[in-house]
Amino acid sequence: MPLSDKPVESLTHEEAAAELERLAREIAEHDRRYHGEDAPIISDADYDALRIRNAEIEARFPELVRADSPSRSVGAAPSGTFGKVVHAVPMLSLDNVFSDGDVRDFVASVRRFLAFPPEGEIVFTAEPKIDGLSMSLRYENRRLVTGATRGDGTTGENVTANVRTIADIPQTLPDDAPDVVEVRGEVYMRRDDFFALQKRLAETGQSIANPRNGAAGSLRQKDPEVTRTRPLRFFAYAWGQVSEPLGETQYDVVRRFGDWGFPVNDRMVRCHSVEELLAHYHKIEAERAEIPYDIDGVVYKVDRLDLQERLGFRSRSPRWATAHKFAAEKAMTVLNGIDIQVGRTGALTPVARLEPVTVGGVVVTNATLHNEDYIRGIGSSGQPIRDGRDIRVGDTVIIQRAGDVIPQILDIVPEKRPADSKPYEFPDVCPACGSHAVREEGEAVRRCTGGLICPAQAVERLRHFVSRNAFDIEGLGEKQIEFFFQAQDPALKVQSPADIFTLKARQANSLTRLENIDGFGEISVRKLFAAIEDRRRIEFSRFLYALGIRHVGETNAKRLARHFLSFAAFRKAGEEAVPPAGKGDPGNAAWQELNGVNGIGSVVAEAIVDFFDEDHNRQAVDALLEQVTVLDEEPVGDVSSPVAGKTVVFTGALERMSRDEAKAMAEKLGAKVSGSVSKKTDLVVAGPGAGSKLKQATELGIEVIDEDGWFALVGREG
Ligand code: IVH
Repeated sequence: MPLSDKPVESLTHEEAAAELERLAREIAEHDRRYHGEDAPIISDADYDALRIRNAEIEARFPELVRADSPSRSVGAAPSGTFGKVVHAVPMLSLDNVFSDGDVRDFVASVRRFLAFPPEGEIVFTAEPKIDGLSMSLRYENRRLVTGATRGDGTTGENVTANVRTIADIPQTLPDDAPDVVEVRGEVYMRRDDFFALQKRLAETGQSIANPRNGAAGSLRQKDPEVTRTRPLRFFAYAWGQVSEPLGETQYDVVRRFGDWGFPVNDRMVRCHSVEELLAHYHKIEAERAEIPYDIDGVVYKVDRLDLQERLGFRSRSPRWATAHKFAAEKAMTVLNGIDIQVGRTGALTPVARLEPVTVGGVVVTNATLHNEDYIRGIGSSGQPIRDGRDIRVGDTVIIQRAGDVIPQILDIVPEKRPADSKPYEFPDVCPACGSHAVREEGEAVRRCTGGLICPAQAVERLRHFVSRNAFDIEGLGEKQIEFFFQAQDPALKVQSPADIFTLKARQANSLTRLENIDGFGEISVRKLFAAIEDRRRIEFSRFLYALGIRHVGETNAKRLARHFLSFAAFRKAGEEAVPPAGKGDPGNAAWQELNGVNGIGSVVAEAIVDFFDEDHNRQAVDALLEQVTVLDEEPVGDVSSPVAGKTVVFTGALERMSRDEAKAMAEKLGAKVSGSVSKKTDLVVAGPGAGSKLKQATELGIEVIDEDGWFALVGREG
């Protein structure tokens, strides 16, 4: 899978959207292999790099965050061998940081969120990040009732019978434990135990790659008696549902777990400053080799539980904790070839094919080469990189999975360059369609000009159309799309989305039988047609996402659907909208509506206008609407919260919470937070110094309350 590692700062919106899509797909696949099959094909560092890249792009293009973004999901769904357990409290993941600077940023972000006074001290805990698998142990009336894996964070696997065989895990808790408590932590294997087990299993032809996989595989045995023979251990470091508070600080609660008989990590300390956190990190890093089990970083957590509560969660991870991962590893290998991939947007991306090499225990075969300048030894602002050394096929290269993207070619070894090597010539025609590939002034990327005729782009667009979060047509995978796209027979050809829905009828009127074609059997054809028929009615947001309008990923599609409620209303706005002609011109009413949708900005609105400006797009939509019915979006609203479904504007100074905390709180309660006051605003929370927004609200007769009024309304004592 190609990975562009163009610096995030220089990505265009289009490239960012395409890359986020690719990352979502790729990370999901790795998650499935890692969590579902215990058989990862890339190193943790490579995997982390993918996630970091994803997070960085999302940070720069928040409007492009996808509903299926890896930043919103944790691990993979349970595999089916065991029963399912729905976690009473989701099992979340941790964000990663890689440098001292990142740690400072983390601490600063915690302070900012809590609007903590500069002289105030926030205490953190710091402890090793155990490289095992997380486990939730539920005790009811002080008896172990369930042991569950994390799964996708919401639903895990019921491995209770196996967990009961682990000596580290108490079967009962002392009297002072609450009636309900879920103790969470890591099941892991010590390295010496792992090696012994590896040797033992080898005698029967079985293999395990590393302690983590050893632990995962041992825990997921069908027969608990097999698990019993495996050297599994446990550390407690977190909790889920509890029937009464466990304590006031992270540190105290973990100590209490220790009192109850759980192993807790003796390298957990309390720190009072960033310097102390970093000192502990570097100490643990130095001790890493002597620590008898694998760790892959240090976890920092806000110690006070009331502050943890206020900080809350992002979609996949807590704001009050982060994992500081250990640094990257490098490796040397040979560059066997350079392939050019053409993306959905026509970007030509060079991909390095490497002689397989193990980095951090896992085999790496591909690396990104960014763009043609990078290959030539020229950086993004035209400056020489690698002292101007170019990269050639046949070169011995040094690869690394750095903090920001991965794996990448860091440098070449000039002494090892073959005498007959030649500079790489970047193609100026598209390898997929032969059209001219041009590089625009100031752009690092070369693009195919083939547009609709380029199969790489058209096929990608169709693939997107049928993908899981779009039309979700099972049986229309990459291979089939490719086949139908290439087909010459008019009864088989699929070149636009509407063609998918006419396929069956065209088949019926022709002598060509799909069933008789290699790769399609009678059953699969029947299933395929059934899957297609099944999608003739489709939710608005999926339909919109499937259209592949630039910048309209799943999140934006949902936002637009929630706002417009029907595709017809959305389309009307998209077709009628006229963006501002210049400064001071607000654009027409349709534009303002589009641009004013919560979370949608002018870039997205512009892309929608552009989309509907194109004749062929309108035609494609019309053709599609002849085939499918787009369902109206149901208006949403969580009736339990007084602000659910309301549009709230915060203005002026807030004294009891930061702007971010206010926003997070309102959103958690089902409100929409907007930056500007309009007729659609329901409530304005105004603090001291509020100016024009307050004035506007008063003029429009919108309800205005102060910060105390807000807390009274939502029922939280500040
Ligand atoms: S705290 C809400 N502490 O790392 C977050 N996690 O990347 C609770 N892990 O899913 C997790 N050691 O499996 C925490 N000392 C530690 C950990 C730790 C390992 C794992 C855990 C978690 C993953 C997140």
